Amino acid sequence: MVGLRRLVSSRLLLPVAVVVGVGVGGALAFGTVSSAQGLGGGGPRSYGSSSTIEYQYPPNSYIPAGEALFATFCSSCHGPQAGGTSRAPNIVGLGPATVDFWITTGRMPAENPFAIQAPRKPAKLSNQQALEIAAYVNSLDPSRPGIPKVNRKTANVAVGADLFSLNCAACHTITGAGDELAFGTFAPSLRAASPTQVAEAIRTGPGNMPRFSGNLTDAQVRDVVAYVTEYIQHPTNPGGFALGGVGPVAEGFVALLFGVGILALVAYWIGERA
Ligand code: HEC
Ligand code: HEC
Repeated sequence: MVGLRRLVSSRLLLPVAVVVGVGVGGALAFGTVSSAQGLGGGGPRSYGSSSTIEYQYPPNSYIPAGEALFATFCSSCHGPQAGGTSRAPNIVGLGPATVDFWITTGRMPAENPFAIQAPRKPAKLSNQQALEIAAYVNSLDPSRPGIPKVNRKTANVAVGADLFSLNCAACHTITGAGDELAFGTFAPSLRAASPTQVAEAIRTGPGNMPRFSGNLTDAQVRDVVAYVTEYIQHPTNPGGFALGGVGPVAEGFVALLFGVGILALVAYWIGERA
C-alpha cells in the first residue's frame, strides 16, 4: 500500500494512468455496445417469401455407387446392411441429412471407434460420394429429413441472433466458439460449418446435441443458419479490443477491472490531498 501511495503521489503518473485507463475502458465499453447494435444492423432483408429450406433426396440412380462405397468405407463398423455392430450404431432409417452431415463434416468414416465423440475433421469423401452413400442407406428404409438447402437471401439475421442465444448459446457459447460438456463430450466451434451442415445439425441433432424438429420452423432454422454463417463466421469488430471474442461477460469484466482500478487511484489521490 505504501508503495502504491508513493507511486500515486508522484503527481505526474496519475494523469497518465487516468487517460490510459479511461481510454482503454471506454474503448472496451464502446466496442461491446456497438457490436451488440451491429446484430440488428443487418435488419430484415425481405419479408413474405415462402422459399426458406428445400429438403433434397439424392436420386435412386446414386444407389449402386453408394452401396459400393458403403462396403468399402462403412460396413466394417456399421455392418454390411448398416444395421450396426458392437463397434458402431445402426444407421438405417435416419434419413439422408444425417448420413450427409456425418460424412461431409469428416466425422465418418471414423478413425477411432472408441472415441467418446467423433470429431470434425477434413472430409475423406467428396460431397458427391456423401450423396451416393446417403442414397444407398436411405434406400434400406426411406426416411426424413432430406438434405436441407437453405435460402439465406430471405433470412433475418437479427431474428437468428435471438433464436441462437435462446437455443444454441448455452452449449456453443454466444460467439459460437464451442465449449466442453459433461463426460468428455464437447459442443464444437461453429466456425467451419457450411449452411447445409448447420441446418442438418439443427434438424438431426448429432451426438449429444438435441434435435430441433417441431420447435423451430423452417423460417427460424433459416434465420439461425444465416446468423451462424454470416455473423458468427464473419464477425465485424466495430471498435475496441476483441479479447479473442470470448463474449460480453469477459469483456465487461475487463472494463470493470480497469474502471474500478481508476476509481481506486482517484480515491487515493483525493485522500492524499485531504
Ligand atoms: C471405425 C469405425 C467406423 C467407420 C469405418 C464408420 N463409422 Fe460411422 N460411426 C462409428 C461410431 C463409433 C459412431 C458413433 C460416434 C459418435 O456418436 O460420436 C458412428 C456414428 C455414425 C453416424 C451417426 C449415427 C447416429 O445415431 O446419429 C452415422 C450417420 C455414421 N456413423 C455413418 C457412417 C458412414 C456413412 C460411414 C462410411 C462412410 C461410417 N459411418 C464409417 C464408427 C464408424
Ligand atoms: C445441449 C447442447 C447443445 C445445444 C443446445 C446445441 N448444440 Fe449443436 N452441438 C452440440 C454437440 C455436442 C455437437 C457435436 C455432436 C457430435 O459431434 O457428436 C454439436 C454440433 C453442432 C454442429 C456441427 C459443427 C461442426 O462443424 O461439425 C452445428 C453446426 C451445431 N451443433 C449447431 C447448433 C445450433 C445452430 C444450435 C441451436 C439451434 C445448437 N447447435 C444447439 C451440442 C449442442
